[in-house]
Amino acid sequence: MPNEPLVLGIETSCDETGVGVVRGHTLLADALASSVEEHARFGGVVPEVASRAHLAAIVPTIRRALAQAGVTLADLDAIAVTAGPGLAGALLVGVAAAKGYAVAADKPIYGVNHLAAHVAVDTLEHGPLPEPALALLVSGGHSSLLLVDDLAGGVSALGSTIDDAAGEAFDKVARLLGLPFPGGPPIDRAARDGDPAAIAFPRGLTGSRDRAAHPYDFSFSGVKTAVARWVEARRRAGEPVPVPDVAASFQEAVADVLTAKAVAACRAHGVSTLVIGGGVAANSRLRWLAQRRCEAAGVTLRTPRPALCTDNGAMVAALGSYLVAAGAPPSRLDLPADSALPVTTVTV
Ligand code: KG4
Ligand code: ZN
Repeated sequence: MPNEPLVLGIETSCDETGVGVVRGHTLLADALASSVEEHARFGGVVPEVASRAHLAAIVPTIRRALAQAGVTLADLDAIAVTAGPGLAGALLVGVAAAKGYAVAADKPIYGVNHLAAHVAVDTLEHGPLPEPALALLVSGGHSSLLLVDDLAGGVSALGSTIDDAAGEAFDKVARLLGLPFPGGPPIDRAARDGDPAAIAFPRGLTGSRDRAAHPYDFSFSGVKTAVARWVEARRRAGEPVPVPDVAASFQEAVADVLTAKAVAACRAHGVSTLVIGGGVAANSRLRWLAQRRCEAAGVTLRTPRPALCTDNGAMVAALGSYLVAAGAPPSRLDLPADSALPVTTVTV
């Protein structure tokens, strides 16, 4: 068993065809083909469009990653692929490709959990993850708080969103404000010129009764609706919508809840490391607030650079490399793509 395994990672759970190559904790290549522009006019990812784009991109992206890393298929110790959760058709493309390459090159295959991969990617930037750690994963498809006792198998969910994912709320609010898809980056930019205290938008599941029943769950549909009502009322009154203030106040409501609950979970579980991942982890206000609150609570914050927070193949390769080094058994060649793979299942 090599202690610096060379692993190819394939990610196709949503709209990014990502292929990464990792040796141990070192990132050698991170190739990406995105279909995001094909979805923009629909205001959200269209599953069938994503699947077709993956089909067109998968082989060239794998070739590009291998070339970038300066390695061949024969050099690899293993191939890792996102087996779920995600869009069923999109996942199938990556899983089928990984199986084909694994058979052709006679390599072990690891079908891995997308959420665990979002955590593992941090090791490429900050080295081995202290365990236990807490992970806050926030993206267009998921918003979860995970307790990570052991990345190879001991991951448990403390909470998740009961309605919209955090990134979904950014995308919907951006649409309301006439900003492009995906909405996170333009809201982040607009908010720089706004006042985060201008409008008091609701913080979901933070009242005392909700906190007791849902200490680590999130809800973002209320804040999204509150923004919609506020904007509609301004428009009805014939007044201009102060986009920077709305963006900053909305962003503040989301970042406030996410960081407060993540730090509370660290305290309650006696965990001193917090990892934040997923596309929304690229948000500048979330990163700033998390840093401030972690410092105050004596928690070490680890956030990968923004390009590693959004979906990519390097994160899958990073988890694969971790699993090979830990001596985890590979998946069977008939491994399924499971769109609803539970977070507790790190490998299938
Ligand atoms: O992890 P990701 O690339 O794909 C999913 O698994 O969903 O996350 C995409 C999400 C989108 O909803 C996008 O609006 C959001 O991440 N996002 C951001 C920022 N950059 C991307 N949200 C807030 N602020 C950002 N800077
Ligand atoms: Zn993701």
